[in-house]
Amino acid sequence: MTTSCSCKTWLKYAALALAALAIIGGMIGYDRGFRQYPQPDWVTASPEMRFKYGSIGAENDAGVPYWIFYVLPRIFPEKLTQDGLVVPGGYASLGVSWEQGQELPIGFTKKTIGFARVANNCAVCHTTSYREKIDSNPVFVVGGSAHTTNVEGFFRYLIDCAKDPRFNADILMAEINRVTHLDWIDQLLYRFLIIPITKKRLLEREAQFAWIYRKDFPEWGRGRDDAMNLTKYFMIKAPMDDTFGPTDMPSVWNLKKYVWEKGHRMNYAGDSNDAYSVIMDSALGVLGAPPANKADFLEQVKWLKDYLSALPPPKYPFPINAARAATGMTVFDANCATCHASEKTGTPLPLADVGTDRGRLDSWNKGAAIKANQVVKDMGLERKGLVEEDLIGYVAPFLDGIWLKAPYLHNGSVPTLRDLLEPAAKRPKLFWRGYDVYDQTKVGFVSDSPEAKRVGTRLDTASKGGSNKGHEFGTSLSASEKDALVEYLKTL
Ligand code: HEC
Ligand code: HEC
Repeated sequence: MTTSCSCKTWLKYAALALAALAIIGGMIGYDRGFRQYPQPDWVTASPEMRFKYGSIGAENDAGVPYWIFYVLPRIFPEKLTQDGLVVPGGYASLGVSWEQGQELPIGFTKKTIGFARVANNCAVCHTTSYREKIDSNPVFVVGGSAHTTNVEGFFRYLIDCAKDPRFNADILMAEINRVTHLDWIDQLLYRFLIIPITKKRLLEREAQFAWIYRKDFPEWGRGRDDAMNLTKYFMIKAPMDDTFGPTDMPSVWNLKKYVWEKGHRMNYAGDSNDAYSVIMDSALGVLGAPPANKADFLEQVKWLKDYLSALPPPKYPFPINAARAATGMTVFDANCATCHASEKTGTPLPLADVGTDRGRLDSWNKGAAIKANQVVKDMGLERKGLVEEDLIGYVAPFLDGIWLKAPYLHNGSVPTLRDLLEPAAKRPKLFWRGYDVYDQTKVGFVSDSPEAKRVGTRLDTASKGGSNKGHEFGTSLSASEKDALVEYLKTL
């Protein structure tokens, strides 16, 4: 009797202890694995800071654990490449905009969900930088086209690291322990869960990213993105085809200029109905999964839409010759206004009217739009959505803030505004993109100096999707008329 009794008591205590452990373990597991902590106050101190560093919810499914993100360039510096060459300097070598004193580049968000994670927001592709001279500090402009950022380089880098057998707990932990002190719980979590799961997740992405490894496609290089193929392969999981539609990141300020009722459509080929739809779809792309919290998500989308609608285009920061610009205005009115300051502006024009590269146009179609709209609808999200029609050509763009949108045309195939006013045969055939020193004479970025060649990525206009043909408007004007026109374009 006594034995059985003490045995029972023992069992009871053991069960209690186990239950307590399970609860504590569960609490730790929850706390260290899933508990959400808000970002620090400085992140949301101003709308601009929020746009640059604020989480839009991507840390849940698309986040990389902070300490892994931190040590990768230390362990795998040789995998950071551009144009096939290794580039020194960590993530900065991929051209991200990095403000002095900031822990992460613009467009990179840090949030703790159990453990600190790094993900992206819109600013990684929609904030830009320029410098007056080679020794000036960069000026960062929110809403500008991220012409220096090598997005493909970044996508590839993470996958290439995960594919390396050295991406394992021993090697990563050794490096992490060199740069920080994790407590024993985090040590265990990183070693047995976070590192193996991150590796698995990154490798899972490889299949969807297959086309960015194709040898018969050129690299996107700095400031370009194959947006509609990203949508096809990630959102609707379409099988890989042979299309390639590299474009510049557009500038996204002053979105209130788009009025759906006037026939305005968005994205380069007019494939989305309105700003709300583009922003929602872009946010879903950044999240890489249906939103974990729909109400939060909708609040983010609305905030972004309101912020970008009201954000003014940046003023040209260098001197403008007012008399010459006034002459240029008459040249503009006579040669350009029919498309760029009229009821046609913001609407798609037939490709034959403009004659630019058709790669981007061919990378998307009505069928894909119908499927993508269904995917979003199935998430219970409402928006006007992608245009369920055959696409005819490219939108005649609004030219507000055009001085900062270089290189020009949807595929960024013409380095400066002055070059755009030459016939296609006389435009530069080979130049370097993604260097941010400004050229005030030709209006655009310096694209063939030794420094531009060192920092930037090559664009060969004979490459797939990279043609600089078409849009020969104004090319027969006199040299002085062209100069005046360029002076006027600075004022927009
Ligand atoms: C990986 C880079 C990238 C990210 C991240 C990104 N965008 Fe974009 N965005 C693009 C590209 C490229 C296009 C042009 C697509 C096309 O037409 O081919 C675009 C188009 C747009 C447009 C349409 C502009 C116009 O004038 O038609 C808006 C608005 C926009 N993005 C807003 C956002 C917002 C808001 C976010 C964040 C939720 C975001 N983007 C995230 C690259 C990006
Ligand atoms: C017949 C209509 C039409 C006329 C006339 C026209 N454009 Fe365009 N423009 C377009 C279209 C359409 C695009 C988009 C083409 C593309 O990106 O492939 C465009 C693109 C541009 C761009 C590039 C914008 C960017 O985001 O990179 C600039 C700059 C530009 N035009 C300036 C001018 C100037 C200056 C004139 C007058 C000399 C002019 N355009 C005349 C239709 C026109």
